[in-house]
Amino acid sequence: MLNVGLIGCGHISETYFRSRDYFNNINITTCADINIETAKKCADEYNIIAKNVDEILEDKNIDVILNLTNPTSHYQTIKNTLLAGKHSYCEKPVSIKFEQGKELIDLANSKNLYLGNAPDTFLGAGGQLTKQIIDRGDVGDIKLGNFTFAFPGVQSWHPNPEPWFVEGGGPILDMGPYYYTMLVNLLGPAKSIKAHAKKINKIRKIGAGPKKDENFNVEIPTSYYIVIEFQNHSLIQGFLSFDVINHQSNYLDLYGTKGSIIGPDPNMFGGPIKVSLSEGGSWKEYSTEEMKLGKTNIFNSSGRSNEAATNANYRGVGLSDMLYSIENHLEHRCNGELVLHVLDMLETTILSAEQSITLQLRTSCKKTKAFTEKEINLITN
Ligand SMILES: NC(=O)c1ccc[n+]([C@@H]2O[C@H](COP(=O)([O-])OP(=O)(O)OC[C@H]3O[C@@H](n4cnc5c(N)ncnc54)[C@H](O)[C@@H]3O)[C@@H](O)[C@H]2O)c1
Repeated sequence: MLNVGLIGCGHISETYFRSRDYFNNINITTCADINIETAKKCADEYNIIAKNVDEILEDKNIDVILNLTNPTSHYQTIKNTLLAGKHSYCEKPVSIKFEQGKELIDLANSKNLYLGNAPDTFLGAGGQLTKQIIDRGDVGDIKLGNFTFAFPGVQSWHPNPEPWFVEGGGPILDMGPYYYTMLVNLLGPAKSIKAHAKKINKIRKIGAGPKKDENFNVEIPTSYYIVIEFQNHSLIQGFLSFDVINHQSNYLDLYGTKGSIIGPDPNMFGGPIKVSLSEGGSWKEYSTEEMKLGKTNIFNSSGRSNEAATNANYRGVGLSDMLYSIENHLEHRCNGELVLHVLDMLETTILSAEQSITLQLRTSCKKTKAFTEKEINLITN
């Protein structure tokens, strides 16, 4: 089994430690953090070894670095990982700038190392079932669609919310990876993007922790309206926002020549998926509960307007698939080509809004491969 070293022992690390219960090849032996006390606490809790960042990169027993640092640290941490001769799997986004992402993917390719990146939610049962239904033609050719992710932002509960409101934060880099990767999974690569952005509040107040009631400046737009044209000519409209108190919009609606499909929450792994084939007609519901990566395993509500109270969350499958692919000399699913195309879409959205013009994407990618239950069985417990 390959050995995984974790860098960045923050909030999301618990999810990756839990993924060891679902997947049979995630062996996290060692952890590190810029703050060594954080690493030691994590090591004690999970009975692994704590090291500092330089030591973990030099450790000959570690094959893969799982990078769960903050987005602004992703680029340098991935670069150091690859230069140390190790494979890299990182949380989203791969970097906050397209040119940095491209450099990393070129570096990984030149060194014959695997570079994988979240999100992996498109590999869940919701994303896979929606893909199956679309690919077998039930709703005809998808021509139009809509998606929404909107909530008031993290400042009410997060003790350090500032990074979400400066360069490297914002709804596009934070939540866009889930929506864009899911859309590319369902529709193929994108062609062009036109976006419009707005900052609603110049100042926000921290609602929890030691800095409670302190104000901080919002330096970037916090809401985006987006229109994406895909290479298959479908036109999809999106709304990503940190400015909405509550709403009841669906996650991902796609409209085809024969009917409509309500796809999954791109931030999660389950369903149900709904299909309607006539005007005013009934909706047929497809459950994902019997599928390996769709069964509900989360029962406490996040309270977010977009999120169901119960959910399926199998984060870590992208890492597990990459580990399996390294051992079997296969292409992994959360691969550099897909990751770079999604990063291109993210940066193009931000630039389009800044420049008030439609921008063409610089990259393309292959259509994602279906992830069959047989393949999933190879990596699950
Ligand atoms: N929290 C979530 O719900 C969530 C969900 C999905 C994805 N993510 C992604 O996971 C990543 C981490 O998020 P989080 O919420 O766990 O953040 P966090 O702030 O809780 O934890 C990040 C950790 O990384 C450490 N760190 C930062 N820079 C470092 C560096 N250069 N070297 C070593 N350690 C460093 C910090 O000290 C901290 O312990 C982000 O990319 C985020 O987008 C988070």
